[in-house]
Amino acid sequence: MKRLLFLLLHLISHPLIQSEPALSYEHARQAVLTAEEKLMTGGHTHLSTQEAKVDDIFMEYKFGELSQGCRNAEQNAAALHFFKAKPLIDRSVVFNFLQKMPKGAVLHLHNTASVSSKWVIQNISYMSGMLRCTTATGHSVLTFRRLPKEHKCQSQYVLVADERKNSVDRQVYDNNFERLINLYTPVPELEYPTITHVWDRFQDIFSVLGDALSYLPAFRAYHWQMLEELYNDNLMYVEIRSSCKKLYDASGRTFPRKRTIRELYALNNKFTQLHPDFLGMKIIFAVHRGKEVDQLRETIAEFKQLHEMYPNFVVGFDLVGQEDKGKPLYTLLPALRDLPSTARLFLHGGETNWFGSSTDINLLDALLLNTTRIGHGYALAKHPILLNAVKTRHIAVEVSPISNQVLHLVWDMRNHPGAQYLALDVPVVICSDDPGFWNAKGLSYDFYYAIMSLAPKNAGLPILKTLVWNSLKYSTLTKEEKSRAFKILELSWTRFIEKVLHKKSW
Ligand SMILES: *[C@@H]1O[C@H](CO)[C@@H](O)[C@H](O)[C@H]1NC(C)=O
Ligand SMILES: *[C@@H]1O[C@H](CO)[C@@H](O)[C@H](O)[C@H]1NC(C)=O
Ligand SMILES: [Zn+2]
Repeated sequence: MKRLLFLLLHLISHPLIQSEPALSYEHARQAVLTAEEKLMTGGHTHLSTQEAKVDDIFMEYKFGELSQGCRNAEQNAAALHFFKAKPLIDRSVVFNFLQKMPKGAVLHLHNTASVSSKWVIQNISYMSGMLRCTTATGHSVLTFRRLPKEHKCQSQYVLVADERKNSVDRQVYDNNFERLINLYTPVPELEYPTITHVWDRFQDIFSVLGDALSYLPAFRAYHWQMLEELYNDNLMYVEIRSSCKKLYDASGRTFPRKRTIRELYALNNKFTQLHPDFLGMKIIFAVHRGKEVDQLRETIAEFKQLHEMYPNFVVGFDLVGQEDKGKPLYTLLPALRDLPSTARLFLHGGETNWFGSSTDINLLDALLLNTTRIGHGYALAKHPILLNAVKTRHIAVEVSPISNQVLHLVWDMRNHPGAQYLALDVPVVICSDDPGFWNAKGLSYDFYYAIMSLAPKNAGLPILKTLVWNSLKYSTLTKEEKSRAFKILELSWTRFIEKVLHKKSW
């Protein structure tokens, strides 16, 4: 391979002189195209005859949509902001295909931002006892308990049920309510002119909703729905980032983190018993990166306990919150080095456009700390040595296209660095990050951008299949769990291929 590459590089850097026969020009041209195709993710993925037929069908869909987008830029979902593209994507045959395709696992998902806001309105906001108050900065806090200091309330608490009853129109009330927990706007370029505008709103939503989701009945319903939405999007496993907050109930009792984990564990068992083809969830304990080293030490001590109690359930550790504003990993090293050797790190890194900044350098520290995967790794393309290390050490990059777009790192998704990672066959897993906050659901919307915007025009099933297989390969499932997972995936994949070929219930 190396020799071939060298030869090809030589060829393209020494253009053939005119007197040479046209044949060798054509030969060189084709050789380079083929070599690049082989190099990229999926370049060595072999398709069966059946799969090849499905690939033809898929490519017909894909070319159809791309050429329509090429003729009419306003209809080009692959290049549009998700808020503008979503109606187009919802009608797209490519999207329909992707929804039905088994997608394996989501490896980067924040639990409290995972469920669609529509469902939160329909379910959680109708639970009796929900309260709302307003803070000094004017944002709402939703909760099921009265803790004015902790909630930073400036107003009285009002019952959501009363507000709704007294409103002119229930539907209008619910629509306004949804705006509290969803970033959607038809004009993101006006509503969020800078990254600060959107990140401030984004962080707000966590504090609007956070305390309501720690209410035991809401906690249970919400996480059950999280699994439902993943399962319904043809996913089979998830690793969630969670701060495992303490819970409370209607009588005002509070429960320690141990209980939070136990609740998730029980829920997980129940769900997987009901759906034997779903492998459930594991937890990556995630704390806010704004903490001081001492606070972080305390949280890590708690994490250690939980990890020791549930070594195969609470599998790792991460830091969350806007990287550009939080503490760089480097300053947190003394605490991070305290982690037990069985606990793995899954660090967010390089979710920034500030090349050379301390945030950008987080990528380096993440790798020096032996991170198992990298969250986002958006800036990785700018660091050739790190990029090479990621590739040779098989560290998967958790690419979350829609998140990066909504949170203002990129506008036209075709400029997303994930395109380069795919071209260079860097290990990539497609993730959704916080789909509940922007009207996405499951993983299919992110897959849409992955195949329509990040992958080259002629890339189809080989790359899709590789991305799906990657999601299990780079998961923290144990060896036994993995082999079971792959068996289930093989089966559902084969069924999917047959379904496409026979257009059964399509
Ligand atoms: C909320 O969801 C839970 C769990 O799915 C369900 O049992 C409950 O009936 C739902 N409540 C409402 C008000 O829809
Ligand atoms: C790095 O992490 C991997 C698992 O992700 C582990 O197998 C390996 O032992 C770790 N290496 C060091 C030096 O800690
Ligand atoms: Zn994240």
